[in-house]
Amino acid sequence: MFSSILVAGVSALALASSASAHLQIRSHFASFQPPNSLTPKTDKVERVRCSSNVSSEVYEAAESRFGYNRILIDTDNVAPRSANISVYFHVVSSDDSEENGNVSDDQISQQIDVLNEDYADSGLYFVLANTTRTVNEQWFSTAGPDTDEQTDMKNQLRQGDADALNVYTVGFESGSGTGLLGYSTFPSSFDDNPQDDGVVILFSSLPGGSTENFNLGKTLTHEAGHWVGLFHTFQNGCSEPGDNVDDTPAEAQPNSGCPTTVPDTCPDSEGSDPISNYMDYSYDACLTSFSTGQISRLQDQMATFRGINFSS
Ligand SMILES: *[C@@H]1O[C@H](CO)[C@@H](O)[C@H](O)[C@H]1NC(C)=O
Ligand SMILES: *[C@@H]1O[C@H](CO)[C@@H](O)[C@H](O)[C@H]1NC(C)=O
Ligand SMILES: *[C@@H]1O[C@H](CO)[C@@H](O)[C@H](O)[C@H]1NC(C)=O
Ligand SMILES: *[C@@H]1O[C@H](CO)[C@@H](O)[C@H](O)[C@H]1NC(C)=O
Ligand SMILES: [Zn+2]
Repeated sequence: MFSSILVAGVSALALASSASAHLQIRSHFASFQPPNSLTPKTDKVERVRCSSNVSSEVYEAAESRFGYNRILIDTDNVAPRSANISVYFHVVSSDDSEENGNVSDDQISQQIDVLNEDYADSGLYFVLANTTRTVNEQWFSTAGPDTDEQTDMKNQLRQGDADALNVYTVGFESGSGTGLLGYSTFPSSFDDNPQDDGVVILFSSLPGGSTENFNLGKTLTHEAGHWVGLFHTFQNGCSEPGDNVDDTPAEAQPNSGCPTTVPDTCPDSEGSDPISNYMDYSYDACLTSFSTGQISRLQDQMATFRGINFSS
């Protein structure tokens, strides 16, 4: 009985990952270049935070797999838990220059620092294990979700096992990823496709990058959130069980920008929209927290699907 449910889960996961929605919006300013301008290039493309937006079928399959296999990490009465996560950083650029994707070691180091600040209460500590640099115009431009370019890129570059975070920085200039900030796989899908596992983000979203409103490094914080097993806070909209985390208020849709008045898009459920939660879509400056429930969930996800042993 278990196995038939799991098999159904596998095919639903496979089906929905290729059918998942990918929004692409580009403003007309995208190709505007001031003549002979000496001001630094600022990215005015209207960005879409993430395409790791799972359908209800994928959600159900992932949660049923989690339910059957769940390893519970006891978060009560214990000393702080910790585990080191190796990070393999793959810089893909269209040429040798920083503005065409060849981000510096310094930016990568700042990005790892942001990750560790944002995950400080999670027990996870990210350690840069290796950086690779590849010039590949096709991957840089086109490695969006479900493309041959991203498959090829991951097949050639991925390192480590289920417990290693592989991060690829690209340009998202054409195809299914146009205008994206990032996308990620989930822990529960590792076994089905280990080589696909990891996070792909826009190079200019790193701290100090050129993407307006999205250059404080929160893109990786958000995408790593999926990689450790969290859904968007607006998953399932106002309907139970939402993102399957008790202490993140339900919200009908993603928030954007930095709302000064906090909306309450699900008035029938407790709490206003969690606009400052890393798993919403607000600007980087407004993303500041994970909830206690998210931390508990991510520890269980990491133990269950990535073999992480938290030590106290
Ligand atoms: C997420 O996907 C659901 C359907 O799977 C869709 O209704 C919703 O609009 C999507 N939201 C975003 C922000 O892409
Ligand atoms: C994590 O890595 C740091 C050094 O980067 C090391 O000092 C620490 O002992 C490691 N912790 C665990 C639990 O392996
Ligand atoms: C990328 O930049 C680094 C310095 O950050 C430099 O050493 C390297 O030659 C550049 N190009 C490639 C393809 O790595
Ligand atoms: C880093 O990755 C490169 C390319 O795969 C490899 O040659 C090198 O040995 C790796 N270094 C470490 C320290 O793992
Ligand atoms: Zn996301």
